[in-house]
Amino acid sequence: MSFITLATILVFVFPYLVFATTSSTDVNAPKAFFVFGDSLVDNGNNNFLITSARADSPPYGIDYPSHRPTGRFSNGKNIPDIIGEHIGVDPLLPYLDPNLTGKKLLNGANFASAGIGILNDTGIQFVNIIRMPYQLALFEQYQERVAALIGTEKTKKLVNEAIVLITCGGNDFVNNYYLVPNSFRSLQYKLPDYVRLLVTEYQKILMRLYELGARKVLVTATGPLGCAPSIIAVRSQKGECAKELQQAANLFNPQVTAMISLLNKKLGKDIFISVEAHHIYLDFISKPKTFGFEVVNKACCGQGPYNGLGLCTAFSNLCPNRNAYVYWDGYHPSERASRLIVQEIFNGSKYVNPMNLSTLIAMDSMKV
Ligand SMILES: *[C@@H]1O[C@H](CO)[C@@H](O)[C@H](O)[C@H]1NC(C)=O
Ligand SMILES: *[C@@H]1O[C@H](CO)[C@@H](O)[C@H](O)[C@H]1NC(C)=O
Ligand SMILES: *[C@@H]1O[C@H](CO)[C@@H](O)[C@H](O)[C@H]1NC(C)=O
Ligand SMILES: *[C@@H]1O[C@H](CO)[C@@H](O)[C@H](O)[C@H]1NC(C)=O
Repeated sequence: MSFITLATILVFVFPYLVFATTSSTDVNAPKAFFVFGDSLVDNGNNNFLITSARADSPPYGIDYPSHRPTGRFSNGKNIPDIIGEHIGVDPLLPYLDPNLTGKKLLNGANFASAGIGILNDTGIQFVNIIRMPYQLALFEQYQERVAALIGTEKTKKLVNEAIVLITCGGNDFVNNYYLVPNSFRSLQYKLPDYVRLLVTEYQKILMRLYELGARKVLVTATGPLGCAPSIIAVRSQKGECAKELQQAANLFNPQVTAMISLLNKKLGKDIFISVEAHHIYLDFISKPKTFGFEVVNKACCGQGPYNGLGLCTAFSNLCPNRNAYVYWDGYHPSERASRLIVQEIFNGSKYVNPMNLSTLIAMDSMKV
């Protein structure tokens, strides 16, 4: 190799290499994604369990790329799928999926299970679901499996740098406190005291995630529970949001946000981002046209009043224009509503505290 050629390589190739390394946001860009919580974020774990809380038959998945049901409680993609798309990680597999092995583990995993709540006794009617302490135990097991592949240090780094999403609380009202009149929990606690219990227990779950290495955690609590078509169908007079459940959501959500803010102060770092999904939905409901929605208080898939009774099955009424609906079934958002929620998570300024996800990722890629 002549001197000239070598010099040319050094001049033209070397700077490129330097440029490529320093400009690569990948240094700190999240490489993995972890999801915990309930049916709002389950992507199919319950398919592997014996439970009635499942979304594995049509028309669930009708707008999913495969047009098949997958266990997601959506007509198409759900919130974790869409966050994953924007972060740039491959679609997550449910942790219970036997195909989640080898290098696929490095992408992260989804531990969520439909029907669960903050409390262990929430969703007991669904029998065999992955309650929160078990989701966290599986996360520990996951880390051991990954450590066997890439070592303990790299595993720790992968978990520290990952984006984590946790969504729970809705079922503690819908499938516990308000499940039946005079439920055990409602006899035991007045609503404000029950809310305080939930917030205290949610904080313990978040601290456990922190202990297990999570450092960038999106936390959502509940949507506007009283405005879900399944609740409107049985508790509303004229299709307005039902008072009792709205009162619960109005008490619970701000307290979760306040708890998160205190927790960040205590930890001296913005580990947790509070996503006030409740308000994002309320904006859809109060100004549907602004967001391109036509129907806010009826489910796209269901039956009975407000199409909100029972389950979404092949025998249900299915709306023709799913994008015009905030709610896909009696309780879960349509893919389109989910996309708008994720837009707020990434780029919003009103309902994400202390910062949006774009800012978090940008801050992170600067501190090399
Ligand atoms: C696992 O992957 C194989 C091959 O891609 C596929 O046929 C099978 O359905 C998958 N199993 C599950 C449980 O998804
Ligand atoms: C839930 O169950 C786990 C273990 O099964 C236990 O450690 C935890 O204290 C329980 N949580 C509550 C709030 O009772
Ligand atoms: C956030 O805004 C950027 C820049 O406008 C855009 O490219 C990106 O798609 C947005 N993200 C989401 C999730 O909407
Ligand atoms: C994210 O939040 C910041 C701070 O609130 C805001 O200035 C910005 O417009 C938001 N959107 C993006 C894309 O960063």
